[in-house]
Amino acid sequence: MKEGRVLVTGAAGYIGSHTVVELVNAGYEVVGVDNFSNSSPDMLKGIERITGKRIPFMELDCSDRTQFAKVFEQYPDITASIHFAACKAVGESVRQPLKYFENNLSSLLHLIELSVEDSRRRGIVFSSSCTVYGEPDPENLPVREDAPVKPATSPYGRTKQMNEEILRDCVNAYPSLNVIALRYFNPIGAHPSALIGEMPLGVPQNLVPYITQTAAGIRKELKIFGNDYPTPDGTCIRDYIYVCDLAKAHVAAVAKVLEDGNNDRFDIFNLGTGTGLSVLELVNHFIKATGVNLPYSFGPRREGDIVKVWADPAKANKELGWKADTPVDDVLRSAWAWEKKVRGIE
Ligand code: UFG
Repeated sequence: MKEGRVLVTGAAGYIGSHTVVELVNAGYEVVGVDNFSNSSPDMLKGIERITGKRIPFMELDCSDRTQFAKVFEQYPDITASIHFAACKAVGESVRQPLKYFENNLSSLLHLIELSVEDSRRRGIVFSSSCTVYGEPDPENLPVREDAPVKPATSPYGRTKQMNEEILRDCVNAYPSLNVIALRYFNPIGAHPSALIGEMPLGVPQNLVPYITQTAAGIRKELKIFGNDYPTPDGTCIRDYIYVCDLAKAHVAAVAKVLEDGNNDRFDIFNLGTGTGLSVLELVNHFIKATGVNLPYSFGPRREGDIVKVWADPAKANKELGWKADTPVDDVLRSAWAWEKKVRGIE
């Protein structure tokens, strides 16, 4: 068992739940918090079934400082936090920017305030996004961490950029603090047990949940948003990373923020596979990997979509000793197994 305890905010969420599993598997004590605003307590049951352990958990809202402080009172041995808890719907953030600024900024501010109160709480791993790069210039593909951060195209993206800046300023001011920002590309798939996975409320906005719901017959057909982009098959290109691989990167990042003598106290890592796939390629992988019929057609472009972006994960490969190497067919099969489990499909 490792020394100290890792606080996971948003522990019942998609990436949070997979990360809790990997932390427990790696021998960390954890405590999870979540307000279930976009997640379900069932995820905690799934985590407990996978790990065979009871997971200390508190239902609370990180944007309420008084509530949030209670977790540190109850668990004084917290040495690092992974901060997932945030609103994440790009479209909603355009319509309700204040909700995003209020929630996503205040939650992080509270986490920093509560962390710097006690020098044992040394590490923060922050859940950031490749959205900070906007549409990368072609010479910057694959995207390295030193690629320019472009003006955000949504309030959601802006909160990720602002949160990174806040953390950067705070490590300068508070010598006990070590921070790693992890910029995720497109996380997909579910735990191989099919006991936890992505659970979007309402109509899915993201590609893979839309694919699996269409395959399950819940949606009539997948609309591919645009096939006239300047890419080989005309559809957008992304770097799809398996959520379990992504979760393991968090375990490596926690170890790093807790290292003594870690000089780079605000560090950034891209988390992706290094390979871009088009929407059409991903759809064809799904059909091939699962053998399931997937009705789809081409529709107009979706406003705000980036044409192509994929990661250069070399820094994370080298410095975190981590690599995303699960084949995409296995990843898509895991997403389909999860969807079938949720829908009770044999
Ligand atoms: N797509 C479709 N049909 C759908 C859904 C998606 O064709 O029904 C396409 C999109 O146009 C895009 C690709 O599938 O080309 C991936 O779309 P997602 O919505 O799954 O992912 P995005 O890359 O648009 O969004 C991700 C994260 C966001 C983040 C954003 C930054 O999910 O949190 O990257 O660009 F803000």
